Amino acid sequence: MVSRVIPVDPFDLVIFGGTGDLAQRKILPGLFRRFRAGQMPPQARIIAAARTAQESAAFRAQTRAAIQEHSPTEARDTGALDRFLQRVHFQQIDALGDTGWRALRDLLTASDRIEAYYFSVSPDLFGALAERLQNHGLAGPQTRVVVEKPFGRDQATARALNATLAQYFDESQIYRIDHYLGKETVQNLMAVRFGNMLFEPLWNAQYVDHIQITVAETVGIGGRAGYYDAAGAMRDMMQNHLMQLLCLIAMEPPSRFDPDAVRDEKLKVIRALDPVKPHHIARGQYSGLADYRSEVGDPRSKTESFVALRANISNWRWSGTPFYLRTGKRMGARLSEITVVFKDTPHSIFEEDAGRHRNVLSIRLQPNEGITLGVTIKEPGPGGMRLIDVPLDMTFAEALGDEEVDHVDAYERLIMDVIRGNQTLFMRGDEVEAAWAWVDPIIEGWTKRGDVPKPYECGSSGPGDADQIMQRDGRAWRKVS
Ligand code: BG6
Repeated sequence: MVSRVIPVDPFDLVIFGGTGDLAQRKILPGLFRRFRAGQMPPQARIIAAARTAQESAAFRAQTRAAIQEHSPTEARDTGALDRFLQRVHFQQIDALGDTGWRALRDLLTASDRIEAYYFSVSPDLFGALAERLQNHGLAGPQTRVVVEKPFGRDQATARALNATLAQYFDESQIYRIDHYLGKETVQNLMAVRFGNMLFEPLWNAQYVDHIQITVAETVGIGGRAGYYDAAGAMRDMMQNHLMQLLCLIAMEPPSRFDPDAVRDEKLKVIRALDPVKPHHIARGQYSGLADYRSEVGDPRSKTESFVALRANISNWRWSGTPFYLRTGKRMGARLSEITVVFKDTPHSIFEEDAGRHRNVLSIRLQPNEGITLGVTIKEPGPGGMRLIDVPLDMTFAEALGDEEVDHVDAYERLIMDVIRGNQTLFMRGDEVEAAWAWVDPIIEGWTKRGDVPKPYECGSSGPGDADQIMQRDGRAWRKVS
């Protein structure tokens, strides 16, 4: 099955922070792939803006190397790469001063294309950039701004950031990125839920025992010690990526697949979350072969690199069905997975030694994205009625023919959505604030109690406290492997 590529309208995309890590690793290689696939039109332009002056030619050389490193297969198409790089320009800009703004305006006003500004810079600069875009006549009703996480570090700072952006832009112009929403399987989750008759009638507390969401990483904090030690797993992953997954799995069917209909439903889920009780949370810090505290250079750091919690959604659909969420760094395997564990059948007609079996629907985001439904069947062969669970496996690459599926990375999909003006996969301001409102008391509780995360071995599945959350409820986490 060949994916259909519909080109977007011509655009000019200005990337503030164009020489930074995200731009070089994700944004520019992603745009190149969209260019090569024919989705980014040949007349579109990318203007990388950064504080330190350099010639466009030098910037193109740097970008070529970045694309060769991060998109090696596609970069072999040197003809396409040359043509793409001709569409890339560099402009020196001082976010806090006046350097470069006039030149940027001259570059942009020569065209009547869609203009998008990607703020791939520290959030401290969002306000200054927005103000200068206005003052230099660079912002019109067609303008879109894209902002990266972290969007605040609590509700107050997120609210302040929203208020600053709102001075210059309408909410319909603001695209807050959560790259998890751009992942293929995350969208498939909505397709599976709302495009099939099969699941939705069972998608509630009457039939679902519990739901697990795991985002386990094998990497540590890498070169981001400064940022990470001030954030921790709760702010870095739980408040955004895991909560977004929770919303999509738990929300009511929106009336339409349109941005506000979807985001209204997600917001209702966040607002229905009960406060989390301290004994329903576990925090951990990796140690052993790699040691978190040594990596951040603080032997007393109380920042968690792992967090697990039990969330309850107080509404008609989910009352009584707990959601268990966990995420951590340096765990045993890289695995992002949502698992819906259905209840036991109300009555078993089989002998006791047939065993009790449960249907488990597992939605894997990475690696090997796909959906597996565990169903119970008779064990083949003679010897009576013994039951076994077998997976109905739908690995997308297999089902759709791997070589023919256009693998689109989250960032490239989201940037194309910005150009198309589709906000469905972006977080609305009120959603972000509501997510912080749920997370803030948890973090405040830790600070007040002087809570210290428990050490866990690198390569493990987190601290024992996380297992206890489950054990107390007579349940167990899925294996991280
Ligand atoms: C980022 C976090 O938002 O997501 C990182 O800041 C994390 O700490 C990353 O490693 C995980 O993304 P992915 O797509 O690799 O699962």
